[in-house]
Amino acid sequence: MIYPILTPEEAASFVQNGMNVGVSGFTVPGNPKVVPPAIAAKAHNEHEAGREFKINLFSGASTNDFTDGALSREHAINFRAPYQSLPELRKRINADELHYNDRHLSEMAQEFRYGFYGKMDIAIVEVQSITDDGELVLGTAVGNTPTWLQMADKVIIELNDQIPESIRGLHDIYVPLDPPMRREIPIYHASDRAGTVTAHVDPKKVLGVVRTSMPLGMSSGFTPVDDVTRKIGENVCEFLVNEMKQGRIPSSFLPIQSGVGNIANAVLDALEHSEDIPAFEMYTEVVQDSVLKLLESGHCKFASTCSMTFSHDAMMEFFAKPELHDKLLMRPSEISNHPEIIRRLGVISMNTAIEADIYGNINSSHVSGTRLMNGIGGSGDFTRNAYTSIFLCPSIKKDDCISTIVPMVTHCDHTGHSVDIIVTDQGVADLRFKDPIQSAEEIIEKAAHPIYRPLLRDYLHLSKGGHIKMNPDTALAFHSALAKEGDMRKADFSHLM
Ligand code: COA
Repeated sequence: MIYPILTPEEAASFVQNGMNVGVSGFTVPGNPKVVPPAIAAKAHNEHEAGREFKINLFSGASTNDFTDGALSREHAINFRAPYQSLPELRKRINADELHYNDRHLSEMAQEFRYGFYGKMDIAIVEVQSITDDGELVLGTAVGNTPTWLQMADKVIIELNDQIPESIRGLHDIYVPLDPPMRREIPIYHASDRAGTVTAHVDPKKVLGVVRTSMPLGMSSGFTPVDDVTRKIGENVCEFLVNEMKQGRIPSSFLPIQSGVGNIANAVLDALEHSEDIPAFEMYTEVVQDSVLKLLESGHCKFASTCSMTFSHDAMMEFFAKPELHDKLLMRPSEISNHPEIIRRLGVISMNTAIEADIYGNINSSHVSGTRLMNGIGGSGDFTRNAYTSIFLCPSIKKDDCISTIVPMVTHCDHTGHSVDIIVTDQGVADLRFKDPIQSAEEIIEKAAHPIYRPLLRDYLHLSKGGHIKMNPDTALAFHSALAKEGDMRKADFSHLM
């Protein structure tokens, strides 16, 4: 190998205060694992010596504790984009200690290429292999790595010997040209390949290689299905089956996008057990353990993803079964979440909401409008361009004190224009072919929990308005009741009478 072998500390010594640093991976998989903690240790020493040390950190999506966790614990992040999900970093963002720019995941790479963030100083990339002429087999996620490799002045490689050789062939690396040269992306089915199996870096940019032996598949495994999530899953199935019966979804079905977490798990579980849903493809950004089950059973014929968000056991199982390897492809997030392809393929999107209002506006990211949970992630990429966009949430939370259906969302990530269907444990609210007031009635009667329906009806019918009924003094009454009395049921609209 022509590249210098570095220790993590030597690699970290190249990273200076104020640099723009890009990391490989997408959610927990594929991130570098030993250089970021060494950068955090360097930050610690610099701070002890009274010197400023913070970097601007760019990724594919959220990262793992080795990156966001280690760096945020040492106050080493100045700016962060496009997404995060670690409690440690969330705490600091919500304390306004650093700048977090929540971005649509499909847009991060192109925004960087357009020059909106200046230059990228260093990219840190986990790989399975690197050749002397700069051919890279990436790890268990792609994220924005191909663009980071293209844009970065210098590149540090983490060569992880735990990534099996059989991962070669699971990637499809394609970076679109930028406007005005952009052409259509030649993906017409979830399984189509548009690019190459390897990524490429100019060998002259490689500062060195850090050898690692870090475990794969560090995502948490299955979250058990409970009564509420099971009901949400059943409601989704019932809706999709009816769409097929009505001829609105072809009998061959359409590709599915599904998020991570317990609700997504329950929905995939319900799809697997439904006799009326045919085997389907997924065009999605993450696949968790439940998708492995679907691939094994044949219910999922093919999964196009950006990241293998598997637990350790599921990751080992996947690599031990070569017959599954031609059923999965990993793409850059720019492509896994690309509006052009999502719309062309007719993807059915399913994402989880923190809250929805009676007009179908969705809050995915900010609890009570102020406290960042994670971010918009890929939910906007998929929702806005889906064949049918579905949002999922339990109708109530926290011992009935929170209704997820509210008069007005406290923060809006997806406007009602992009939202077709809201599914809760109570039922399915279909917002298509409805004006705002008809939508409100549908959401209240079909999706809201019965204990909150009278309050929501009062708000709707006592508020004044034309096309939309709204009362500026009480639109957030549910949230002020929660803040003052810990219970949304204490909201009072009687003075509107
Ligand atoms: N009002 C007040 N608090 C609320 C709330 C509401 N309406 N909804 C959730 N919360 C609180 C919960 O009580 C919980 O707090 P706790 O940790 O103190 O218990 C916290 O917010 C998380 O809620 P939970 O229901 O456990 O969230 P989840 O794990 O089901 O995730 C999202 C839901 C919306 C946060 C998550 O799906 C997400 O980040 N979505 C955006 C990204 C995305 O959609 N990506 C695309 C697909 S991967």
